[in-house]
Amino acid sequence: MKVNFTETVLRDANQSLIATRLPFEKFAPILSDMNKAGYYSVECWGGATFDSCLRFLNEDPWERLRKIREAMPDTKLQMLLRGQNLLGYKHYPDDVVRKFVELSVKNGIDIIRIFDALNDVRNIRVAVEETVKQGAHASGAISYTTSPVHNLESYVKLAKEMRELGVSSICIKDMAGVMSPREAYELVKALKENVDLPIVVHTHCTAGLAFMTYLKAIEAGADVIDTATSCFSGGTSQPATETLCYALRDLGYEVDLDDKQLSKINSFFAPIRNEYLQNGTLDPLMMATDTACLDYKVPGGMLSNLVSQLKMQNAMDKFDEVLTEVPRVRAELGYPPLVTPMSQMVGVQAAQNVLLGERYKSIGKEVKAYVRGEYGKAPGKIDEKLAEKVLEGEKPITYRPADDLEDEFEKTKAELGDRARCDEDVLSYIAFPQVAEKFFAERKKREENTVAYTIRRID
Ligand code: CO
Repeated sequence: MKVNFTETVLRDANQSLIATRLPFEKFAPILSDMNKAGYYSVECWGGATFDSCLRFLNEDPWERLRKIREAMPDTKLQMLLRGQNLLGYKHYPDDVVRKFVELSVKNGIDIIRIFDALNDVRNIRVAVEETVKQGAHASGAISYTTSPVHNLESYVKLAKEMRELGVSSICIKDMAGVMSPREAYELVKALKENVDLPIVVHTHCTAGLAFMTYLKAIEAGADVIDTATSCFSGGTSQPATETLCYALRDLGYEVDLDDKQLSKINSFFAPIRNEYLQNGTLDPLMMATDTACLDYKVPGGMLSNLVSQLKMQNAMDKFDEVLTEVPRVRAELGYPPLVTPMSQMVGVQAAQNVLLGERYKSIGKEVKAYVRGEYGKAPGKIDEKLAEKVLEGEKPITYRPADDLEDEFEKTKAELGDRARCDEDVLSYIAFPQVAEKFFAERKKREENTVAYTIRRID
């Protein structure tokens, strides 16, 4: 049996360990080697890369994508997309989602992994449809979590719904790294038996489960796993590419990776990793194993958010109480997966419930919007008393949240005028208005300086 690898060093590994602070110039020299490594795909765009390019790196994310495409003509390039939220946390109108997908594919993307934080398929429908229309591979991702309303049946149902939409593969996306080897085995097996599509598994090493989880997933028939070159693996990142390649081959699986290239790639990234360790961008703790999430059933990232929130309010003595409150709030909200933005919503509400001495004395704006159905459908039933308190006699919306959004692309394009040079600019602006505006201004200034310099030189 063959196992395929998606390399994540340019996106998730980089996002999880060094907050996506890797400029294009730093990794450009290794792209031609990565192109020859034999990966199933290279995840290199979407997620936080887009925002980080504009906000911190002064890079045009679209240009980055075109450059990667040019340097890696033979490898499938992959991106992560949050369905109707694109790369952020609010819903965008359909015309914007379609344009974003169209231009992502035109600029070089082959595979778009599409997910919704609540697993509401209505929120991924338009992105999947457009991906298929553009001739790219749509991978439908399940936001993995455990709860009384999440089980093999519900996940198989979700995967079947995604297949109906036209996805070419199903990804089990364990963003928090909490999926156990047994859970992975059972879920992959159920999906394989019921949905005739390739299965991709994505997890993180945070809790130390990932290698075992991948192995059991592969034993159950998983087709693709996400890994990171070894110096950018482990901790909050993915398991190491080389290790899994070695172990799987040793077990008799067929792996298409080229060992020489893998070693070259890792030697290239190792000094970069060391540089980020030295300048403090990479906290060594991020590379360690943290099992607290297994004890508390709360993702690692959410635990650290809670700690800093309580420290800020001088309330660390309430930590245990808040941790007990988290699962209660989550249950009352219908068991949303604890991923952004739900993890923050649940965490902040649990802390408020404890610190104010009365449950739901104050209810967060986002929690209210969620209860009103503005994020999509809750996986389970929302507690009646809480719903009553928020809705005050009104009904939650039952339609798809983006249904009442008006087209935005052409209007924004007209408003931007010559500040946007192309449709890609318009999308950058719609996704991150202030950040893009600042980027456009700096780009213009930079070019003016270059022109002046060039003229002087010629003179
Ligand atoms: Co991830």
